[in-house]
Amino acid sequence: MLEGQVELEGMVALVTGSGRGIGRAEALRLAAYGAKVVVNDLGVATDGSETGETPADEVVAEILAAGGEAVAERSDISSIEGGEAVVQRGLDTWGRIDVVVNNAGFGRPRMAFNLSPEEWDDVIRVHLRGAFAVSAPACRWWRSEAKAGRRAGGRVVNTATGLLLYGGAGQSNYVAAKAGVLAFTEALATEMAPYGVTANCIMPSAATRLADIGWRMGRNAALLDTDFDPTDPVHVAEMICYLASPSAGWLSGQCSQVRGGIIEHVQTFVVDHVAMRADAGWSAKDLVTELPRMFGAGARRSDPPPKEWQDQYRAKGGASTSPGTGSPGT
Ligand SMILES: NC(=O)c1ccc[n+]([C@@H]2O[C@H](COP(=O)([O-])OP(=O)(O)OC[C@H]3O[C@@H](n4cnc5c(N)ncnc54)[C@H](O)[C@@H]3O)[C@@H](O)[C@H]2O)c1
Repeated sequence: MLEGQVELEGMVALVTGSGRGIGRAEALRLAAYGAKVVVNDLGVATDGSETGETPADEVVAEILAAGGEAVAERSDISSIEGGEAVVQRGLDTWGRIDVVVNNAGFGRPRMAFNLSPEEWDDVIRVHLRGAFAVSAPACRWWRSEAKAGRRAGGRVVNTATGLLLYGGAGQSNYVAAKAGVLAFTEALATEMAPYGVTANCIMPSAATRLADIGWRMGRNAALLDTDFDPTDPVHVAEMICYLASPSAGWLSGQCSQVRGGIIEHVQTFVVDHVAMRADAGWSAKDLVTELPRMFGAGARRSDPPPKEWQDQYRAKGGASTSPGTGSPGT
């Protein structure tokens, strides 16, 4: 058991897509803090195509070698049956579940005008339907436990993207799915509050095969002349461990962006300015002057992506690579 208030001993955590990247770090750290972990991974490529690889087995071997407890699970979480199978694996193996981390995913970046219906559906399915497919059976179990008076509680941590803050050009399917994940998280937090279950969302940033962000944050680290690697997925994983812990019972329906040593609270779905008349509506003519005044700098989404992102996009061959690659989030 590690130091601090994060006590996960005896808890069971399910982490989807934890054979690689951020999910792998999350599974390893949850196990290090004492949780038993269902390591789910389908072993697909970054575009979701099959590879025949079994990365979940490797992560389980790492956890067992370090003295922890884990089982591998290879279901496709974008299907309802797959999500139920992940939850059932935790119940069959250890008789309970305490934490669900919805992390699995892949991208099919292309401008919306070039995007095929399959590319749209597959990305929406893995991120948005996947978060529902695993969370729903877990919530059913937590609710039945609470109603039977046995225990109250549970933790859902969903994964969004910082690209939502920057427009997401070339990633419309991906950001649409992730925006749905954010909205789903807020609804789940409200629905599950009576049962002591929290639901939160993170916007991670880490150097993985899916996101080549090393060039940017790594360069910053070099400038600071430090060994600290802000691109290491472990920083995201530590946040997950906190959110999974009993200490985080006060926090629900919230979104945080985690980038190395920077944790930002992201406010979602808030009204920031109001144009109000008590006794009349606004005509379209009135809005010609009122809306620019009200929106001000908030109209930034129509700006083109920063020039360095565009240069990188072109250097990597245009449409075959994400213009978001190298951006603050993927
Ligand atoms: N890396 C970043 O900086 C970054 C930024 C923003 C958001 N994210 C999000 O973080 C999550 C993890 O990304 P990553 O960078 O670690 O990617 P990754 O490709 O390294 O890992 C994703 C894992 O998910 C698995 N997976 C994919 N589809 C699956 C399915 N249907 N069922 C089960 N497993 C499946 C893959 O096999 C893979 O091992 C994703 O949701 C991604 O959108 C990452």
